[in-house]
Amino acid sequence: MQVQFQNNSLNVSHHDKIFQLHPVWLRERLPGEEYFDIDTHQRLYEPSSIDLELQITNAELIESQLNIEFNDGIKGSYNIEDLLKEMDDNQNKRGPLPERILWDASLKNFPEIQFEVDMADKKSMYDLLMNFYKYGFVIIKNAPIENKFLLKFVNSIGPVKITNFGEYFDVMSKPNPNDLAYKPIALPPHTDNPYRKPAAPGIQFLHCLQNEVSGGFSTLVDGFAVAEYIKKNNFQAFESLTTTNLRYQFQDKDIVLENWGELIELDKDGDYKQVRYSTRVDYVPPLETEKLKIFYQSRKLLSELYCSSEFELRFKLQPGDIMMFDNHRLLHGRTAYDANEGMRHLQGCYLEFDATDGKLRHLARKFK
Ligand code: OGA
Ligand code: ZN
Repeated sequence: MQVQFQNNSLNVSHHDKIFQLHPVWLRERLPGEEYFDIDTHQRLYEPSSIDLELQITNAELIESQLNIEFNDGIKGSYNIEDLLKEMDDNQNKRGPLPERILWDASLKNFPEIQFEVDMADKKSMYDLLMNFYKYGFVIIKNAPIENKFLLKFVNSIGPVKITNFGEYFDVMSKPNPNDLAYKPIALPPHTDNPYRKPAAPGIQFLHCLQNEVSGGFSTLVDGFAVAEYIKKNNFQAFESLTTTNLRYQFQDKDIVLENWGELIELDKDGDYKQVRYSTRVDYVPPLETEKLKIFYQSRKLLSELYCSSEFELRFKLQPGDIMMFDNHRLLHGRTAYDANEGMRHLQGCYLEFDATDGKLRHLARKFK
């Protein structure tokens, strides 16, 4: 890293890139109690009131301290590390959130964390969230086997997302259910609730309380790994799956929920944003025949890959396991079971990403 001040212009070279630091950009970061409230770290003045003709008249770097003088006589010093973080696009956007590790059925070591009492502010929660962000799931082992314990646990990370199913749901076979999950049939790989607005719940938890049946295995698939495979091997299918907008609908006697989205949604940078797959509730619009022909071929490929033993993890949840997974990245399901063999009872609930993002950024201040 190098800092150069010449002809009123301050250039910083960092990671093979040169940044010309704008005087207003620097000024609106000027540290000091008169500019930023010490309790909240929030800016105390309106930055658009800064004179746009402002210039830097002097700059020098002493160890990690960058001292700046402006032409209106105001001086200040910055920690250069804080500024460099903002110049690193990846750090600036992701902060302490780790890079994803895509996986397939060959994943050997499942991300697992032992449950600890009051773990929300402990290193074990930091490790749990790091695993969750890398793999899109983590299994918390040996949690208390208690009715609604899940709510206490999830609320210690962030507020549970309440939906029309309530704060939580019991997954067990029930008479006349409003969802196929409550019958003992197999659930092929799916994402939950793509019909919700503004988006499907970000994170799902399933806490196993009883699993006495010989079937009822849980399945997980890394939807982004499958998307990456399709992108490399069949670009036409990738294009169709990332551009065809589908409608998703849920209805029961009280509510009709609808939303739209692609089976594989990309963000503005072309990165994976969200997969949606719930063949029980999706409807493709009546597009031109040629487009639909390609879409149906692409969806068949997607479905085969989601169900293939190359990509699927299959395992049995034990009582006391809490499975936490990214409902925008992973697909989950279960094999059929015979409800006459015994009880199978999971409790589930949802959480949003601002809770886990915020918690991880907070814990990284202590444990990184
Ligand atoms: C669900 C679901 C999986 C299971 O309730 O959304 O997918 O293991 N359940 O029963
Ligand atoms: Zn589900």
